[in-house]
Amino acid sequence: MTVKQDIEDLKQTIHLHDHLYYVKNSPSVSDQEYDALLRRLRELETSHPEYVTPDSPTQRVGGKVDERFKAVVHPVPMLSLDNTYNVDEVRAFHQRVLKGLPGVPEDSIEYVVELKFDGLAVALTYENGLLVRGATRGDGLQGEDITANLRTLRSIPLKIDTETFNRIEVRGEVFMPKKEFERINAEREAEGEVPFANPRNAAAGALRLLDPAVTAQRKLGIFIYAVGFLDNNPCKTHFELQKKLEALRFPINRYNRLCENFESALALIEEFRDKRKELDYEVDGLVIQLNSLAHRKQLGETSKFPRWAVAYKYEAEQAVTEVIDIVCQVGRTGSITPVAELRPVLISGSTVSRATLHNEDEIKRKDIRVGDRVVIEKAGEIIPKVVRVIEQSGERGQPFKMPAICPECQASVHRPEGEVVWRCVNSSCPAQLKERLKHFSSRKAMDIDHFGPAVIEQLVDSGRVKNFSDLYTLKTDEVASLERMADKSAKNLISAIEKSKHAGFSRLLHALGIRHVGQRTAILLARKFRSMKKLQEVDFNELEKIDEIGPVIAESLKAFLDQDSNRKEIEQLQEQGILMEEQGNAPESGGSLQGRQFVLTGTLARFTREEAKEKIQSLGGRVTSTISKKTDYLVAGDSAGSKLDKARQLGIPVLDEEALQKLIESPSAGSG
Ligand code: IVH
Repeated sequence: MTVKQDIEDLKQTIHLHDHLYYVKNSPSVSDQEYDALLRRLRELETSHPEYVTPDSPTQRVGGKVDERFKAVVHPVPMLSLDNTYNVDEVRAFHQRVLKGLPGVPEDSIEYVVELKFDGLAVALTYENGLLVRGATRGDGLQGEDITANLRTLRSIPLKIDTETFNRIEVRGEVFMPKKEFERINAEREAEGEVPFANPRNAAAGALRLLDPAVTAQRKLGIFIYAVGFLDNNPCKTHFELQKKLEALRFPINRYNRLCENFESALALIEEFRDKRKELDYEVDGLVIQLNSLAHRKQLGETSKFPRWAVAYKYEAEQAVTEVIDIVCQVGRTGSITPVAELRPVLISGSTVSRATLHNEDEIKRKDIRVGDRVVIEKAGEIIPKVVRVIEQSGERGQPFKMPAICPECQASVHRPEGEVVWRCVNSSCPAQLKERLKHFSSRKAMDIDHFGPAVIEQLVDSGRVKNFSDLYTLKTDEVASLERMADKSAKNLISAIEKSKHAGFSRLLHALGIRHVGQRTAILLARKFRSMKKLQEVDFNELEKIDEIGPVIAESLKAFLDQDSNRKEIEQLQEQGILMEEQGNAPESGGSLQGRQFVLTGTLARFTREEAKEKIQSLGGRVTSTISKKTDYLVAGDSAGSKLDKARQLGIPVLDEEALQKLIESPSAGSG
């Protein structure tokens, strides 16, 4: 046998073992045997580099990622699916299908039901049997070239049998298995890094790393669920096509089901409701789709969704865990909220170790005690809550009682008539102050970066900061001397504080934390009165008359402004140079980019930076100079540098100018 043949055989054997291990979950050799094969191949390839081919298993980590992922236009747009949480809406979908296929008997309509994986959509293109490109979905029209990173996924074939197709693009979902997610987060926490919120984010981060060798260490998986295009399609149905793909060794999910009619498709919703939780990957729903490709064609698609498929999403996920303790948290208005500390448990993709118990009545009603096993639930991004007790602990403690004094400052607590919430009456309670400072510095208020809970904690506990205006007297040296504070971070914090002086009147009003004066009201007031001075002079009746203000807000505002200590604090802030006038138009609240944070880098061609910034701001978005976890998008022009790397590391979407333009025109683009 020639060396060339040897190499060919080894490649095929290793590909087969990869397939058995990563796709079929049934390895037929031991790890040592596998490693020996790979080692042998490497040796041969080293002595005969002329025989190294791109589809060799030694070349999974080989290609380099450009400094910037190249944009890739999808030859066929990557649509998304119409979502529903409701079985009736799935029935309505079926009715629309029937209506769109006149003359087709209902009992001849087959559906395929697949799990809906919660990961990231990608497209893989094969030419003459070789994987030539892998791209993210991006905004559906245009994604990013992440070929080098996708090649490291060992369930993705680098080479497929060319007899069937010359050119094919398959699509699928990349995910991080739950176990791998936990492993990586434990590692990150041990290294003092911020853990990923859920497996999806972790997978997104791993796919966008600049070093494919690191991607290779993350054990990402993929399921192929669709074909973008192929040159000659021998199949009449989706299910047949999936079988073909499976035969080509693409990873196809084992739970895909062919259903002879709509009712049996519907029945799977119940079947998978619990089953999905036992899987090692996140599944957030089911995809219900027509089997016949001809019928799909006949129905077509809207600009966003195919008319031949729908996604049923499962309601908030629940999990069972144990109450380790019940503690009380003091909020910024002195409200005392009982919180359950839980044995950490994974729910809806993130680890949960606390849940709100709302108030005393709620705990009594549900009779929740330390040691009990409870059902917790998380709906979307909201804080998880305890639904009910399912098992009482053997030695149940006393029923929970609200503390008679503030757990933080020992001042007395008070429950106003008709309210359910207890409050600490001490307005200088350090716990309240800490929360107020967090609010004051938050993104939608004064937006002071680098002012984390650890810094706030130290400044309040030492008595150095007793109110907002004290912040503006801080010096770099004293901040640098705080625990876990490097010189650089201290400088950053001081300059962020300095910058916040110009945040503007509406932000300041919001930041002060006046009850019932949220962001929107603050903007309204700022637009109407233009300055703190004018607002202070206004009389109550006039305030009340403003649309959207009303007596409750008016009263609260007046009470705040009339109080001596608050007046003094406002004076102090003014003396420190905090801007108390509104400049220009107060930003529209509820603009299409409301709450989204952008960073601009590199040279833009279509806009000047200033124009891009103004445009984003006019739609309610924010433009900041440094990338952090809070950044929603990096807009990268030519010769973008370190910010781009950072964005990639954090898994933050990167937009080029065109994508920015699209986002400005249609803000739902780019969020997929
Ligand atoms: S089929 C025209 N099947 O869900 C789109 N999608 O909301 C056809 N997804 O972008 C998609 N699992 O990222 C399909 N078994 C599955 C899926 C699946 C997850 C994702 C996919 C898509 C999104 C649609």
